[in-house]
Amino acid sequence: MSNQAIDARKRLILPLDVSSINEAQRLIDELRDFVGMFKIGLELYSACGPAVLDLATKDKLPIFFDGKFCDIPNTVYGACRAIAAHDVAMLNVHATGGSKMIRAASDACDMAARESGLARPILLAVTVLTSLDQNWLANELGVTRSMEGQVCHLAKLAQENGADGVVASANEVKLIRKTCGANFVIVTPGIRPQWAAANDQSRIVTPSGAIADGADYLVIGRPITHAENRIDAAKRVVEEMNQALVSIR
Ligand code: C5P
Repeated sequence: MSNQAIDARKRLILPLDVSSINEAQRLIDELRDFVGMFKIGLELYSACGPAVLDLATKDKLPIFFDGKFCDIPNTVYGACRAIAAHDVAMLNVHATGGSKMIRAASDACDMAARESGLARPILLAVTVLTSLDQNWLANELGVTRSMEGQVCHLAKLAQENGADGVVASANEVKLIRKTCGANFVIVTPGIRPQWAAANDQSRIVTPSGAIADGADYLVIGRPITHAENRIDAAKRVVEEMNQALVSIR
């Protein structure tokens, strides 16, 4: 999948950062024609269970299951196989779970696809959470590499062990693209259009900036979900992404 091959709306992922099925359903109903995918994270999944996955997949709407698994390979295999059976488009693990765990997750995605006859989900790896910094890396983890070096090391590890891409800060997109090549999928949160509030995100990048740097998919929540007119906000974001795509083609 190349950066240019996917149209702008399909690249926009809306996080369902709510804690009830009703709230999630309202967001899906309102925005299903204006975004490309919905992201279900640990808050919604923990509150509602697997039923929440079927909210969107029953209507064939793409879902990114942001479960960030990290455990022994056998456990992650079972978890990924169970999630992939729900017809999710993307799911993720922590790259720090190691090569064998990433490979187990990849094998589980293959197995689930064989069992269901559905497309294999895109397997993403989280390199280093953007809430963590160089001080954490050096003093808590004891890693001597720079943050950029560590992110690229983990992206490469993920790629070599069957992951299709990574979730990464928009600040690291250029470096990952250079390290892992054109076909590696890069999903970036922490995106803010110039007209939106930063909220609690720091090191933010605009939708056009992230696309210009080579991101494939953007996770954008509050600039859309907290807007007075959510549909207009989603349309503005997609238009900005589209213009950036046109200018890099
Ligand atoms: O656009 P907004 O800040 O509202 O998006 C928040 C979403 O992005 C949440 O679902 C959060 O889990 C996700 N996310 C993030 N930063 C990361 C990884 C994921 O904000 N580094």
